[in-house]
Amino acid sequence: MALVKSVFLRSFWRSVRNGGGKSPVIAGHKLLYRCNLECAMCPFWRREDEELLTVDQEVRMMDSLVRAGVSFLGFEGGEPTLRKDLPEILLEAHDRFHTSIVTNGWLLTNRIREIAPYLDLLFVSLDGIGDLHDRLRGIPRSFEKAVEGIRAARSRVPVAISSTITSENMDDAEKLVDLAEKLGVGVTFQVAYNYSTAESLMPRGDKLRATLERLLALKERGAPILESREYFTTVINSWYRGIPWRCKPWMTMNVDPQGRIVLPCYTLREYGGQEYVWDVDVRKLWNTFDWGPYEKCNRCALACYLEPSLFSWTNPSMIRERVIDPIVAYLDSGVTPQLVDA
Ligand SMILES: C[S@@+](CC[C@H](N)C(=O)[O-])C[C@H]1O[C@@H](n2cnc3c(N)ncnc32)[C@H](O)[C@@H]1O
Ligand code: SF4
Ligand code: SF4
Repeated sequence: MALVKSVFLRSFWRSVRNGGGKSPVIAGHKLLYRCNLECAMCPFWRREDEELLTVDQEVRMMDSLVRAGVSFLGFEGGEPTLRKDLPEILLEAHDRFHTSIVTNGWLLTNRIREIAPYLDLLFVSLDGIGDLHDRLRGIPRSFEKAVEGIRAARSRVPVAISSTITSENMDDAEKLVDLAEKLGVGVTFQVAYNYSTAESLMPRGDKLRATLERLLALKERGAPILESREYFTTVINSWYRGIPWRCKPWMTMNVDPQGRIVLPCYTLREYGGQEYVWDVDVRKLWNTFDWGPYEKCNRCALACYLEPSLFSWTNPSMIRERVIDPIVAYLDSGVTPQLVDA
């Protein structure tokens, strides 16, 4: 239970210190845009990288995030495992935050030993079984390499498959849940968003609704799906029944590879950064920015925004379902104990 306690204490202390105003709790950071794959629905591998931040500059960014109140930092890209200095960056991050990365898994088998000690959660993307995944990812053997990476990683760190639901792969959603069960890892789903510079594969219509309902039913039967039940019911309510959710994009901050904050959110700005995080007083910015128009926006269902938007520390059943149960399940699953409060 040490990890549970430390998650609670760190988040609680950082939110108390913020005195009740708006502040980001979760941060996402792209370490680069470059990638070894060419996914159809993804705009990022198509971008040129500017000069990337050094480890010292990454630390400067992290210290700004700590001051802003962030407790969870997730790294992504592009492909984060392409960065040679990933272990150094993660080491610094793990001293300050609960950490995760999301990777396509190609390089995981070679890199897991050096990064696992600094990770609380590892997401490996899989969008279908076998050829379907390879076709969406644009490179043959991507499925095989991702599964190999999961097998290499799962005894060292808690792992979850991260699956992006597109118009092409809705029939494989249950198969991915089955695969997660067979591999003894978790699984998380997100609905693809249509970026202007990628293929438009956002799923829609009755088929998406049926897929979300099937995933909700599997979740209720105990499948290792990390999204909350409310995640699925909220998306179905908004997109199919006209009952909107209140989006709170201020709960999640995204920072681009140069250290610039993406405001108001990842999707609406298509990950275009603006001000450097170390140049601004984030708490002041967060409490003067006009979030009003975005509270009514229900355009994307990215879990990194929707889950915190739904979360309430005053709802005990929610705290149990979202925080305590998943962590206890991971601890019970026999994951290596040195990861707990290392
Ligand atoms: C941009 S990738 C970066 C990390 C790594 N390269 C990977 O694929 O896991 C992070 C996540 O975004 C997802 N993603 C890609 N295109 C997306 C889209 N159009 N809408 C929603 N998620 C998307 C990927 O499937 C992946 O799970
Ligand atoms: S989704 Fe990930 S693996 Fe695919 S191109 Fe984008 S960054 Fe690369
Ligand atoms: S629902 Fe709208 S405001 Fe909220 S994160 Fe998605 S695009 Fe941004």
